[in-house]
Amino acid sequence: MEREIKRVLVVDDEQNTCDMLTEFLRSSGYSCASATDPAKALAILKKGDFEFVISDIKMPKMDGLQLVSEILKIDPEIDTIMMTGHAGVYTYVDIIRAGASDFIAKPFQLQELQAKMERIDRERKMQRGLKQMAEELRKSRDELESRVEERTAELEKANEELRQFPSKLIAAQEEERRKLASELHDSIGQSFAAVKYWIEMALKLRDAGDCDAAINQLQQFIPILQRSIDETRNIYMGLRPTMLDDAGLLATLEWLRQECMKLYPQRHVELEVGVSEEEIPAQFKINIFRIAQEALNNIAKHSKAEWVDISLSKNGGRIELVISDDGVGMDLDLISQTSAARSLGLTSMRERAVLSGGSFSIESILGEGTTIRAFWPIETEGQFQKGETTQLPALSNF
Ligand SMILES: Nc1ncnc2c1ncn2[C@@H]1O[C@H](COP(=O)(O)OP(=O)(O)OP(=O)(O)O)[C@@H](O)[C@H]1O
Ligand SMILES: [Mg+2]
Repeated sequence: MEREIKRVLVVDDEQNTCDMLTEFLRSSGYSCASATDPAKALAILKKGDFEFVISDIKMPKMDGLQLVSEILKIDPEIDTIMMTGHAGVYTYVDIIRAGASDFIAKPFQLQELQAKMERIDRERKMQRGLKQMAEELRKSRDELESRVEERTAELEKANEELRQFPSKLIAAQEEERRKLASELHDSIGQSFAAVKYWIEMALKLRDAGDCDAAINQLQQFIPILQRSIDETRNIYMGLRPTMLDDAGLLATLEWLRQECMKLYPQRHVELEVGVSEEEIPAQFKINIFRIAQEALNNIAKHSKAEWVDISLSKNGGRIELVISDDGVGMDLDLISQTSAARSLGLTSMRERAVLSGGSFSIESILGEGTTIRAFWPIETEGQFQKGETTQLPALSNF
């Protein structure tokens, strides 16, 4: 196993000792240098080339214990073995407290010195291992803390949205009622008022004995009635598209596409279908329709898009609805911060997808357009792929 200690500096005021130790250490495979003066030793160590010092204690200008404390100031990682022929003057406690790793009493056998160095080497390795482990632990803890922070922030946001949801629902319900009331007033209410007027006129003509004029009068309000029938149909289709139950989801999506084209003739809307009506589980149909409806509403209101693609397909065990436009796009981070309190569309699309067992994501690039994706796992070959983990990376919280 590779040594931790490779480069050793010997410090002793006796040149003979320096030479003898240097020779022994070199023959044992260490890279080695020596100094007879502690000040020189410190200058050598400052260059950073040594990780181990073997030093005499009793030296004229600076004793070994002082030298150890100076060495540790240069590099606290350097290990030192003190050599002493004055065991009575310097105790083990003094030497270790000064910061040395060990001491050896002169005279000693070179093998004894080597054994001590090997033990210190093992300890260094263990320390390094422990340090690495502590560092890794610290990193994992930091990562964990930041993940907990992220999750807590997400949870707080979700909680906040949940807290706001009832009031948003009430507001949406009120808005829906207001729209319905004004539509009833403007369409059926107006038509019935007209019908009443025309019938009264016809009756008056009949009372005056002019039956032909009365019949003519009645015939004239047939188109008005037809318009009322159409308007009523539009209202109930908006409330609950009966077509969904009568003709199926695919026909209803086609109807939605045509309505969209009628309202905005300059916008091209494509519908691509890669799934049969029977393959779409009944419980998903209203959700698929509502998500498509709100996505198209949003495109009409916000996107300025020229091209819109609606695609409904069966893809690897799931039903996938994708609606993309080439409009102005949106800054999802900004939208999630600013519109959370007011708007309901994106939130309700996501809620619908998730609550019916699916997943939902939005991708949007400013100036390039928006793509909305919702998918639901379906049963394939007797296997229900519930709660698939292949959820697309949601680019926002919507
Ligand atoms: N296709 C899109 N292109 C560009 N911006 C969009 C698109 N869809 C949504 N947006 C932006 O996202 C915002 C939030 O949409 P959302 O449907 O939640 O609310 P809304 O349409 O403003 O109101 P409502 O609650 O009536 O749906 C919109 O105000 C709009 O700025
Ligand atoms: Mg909307």
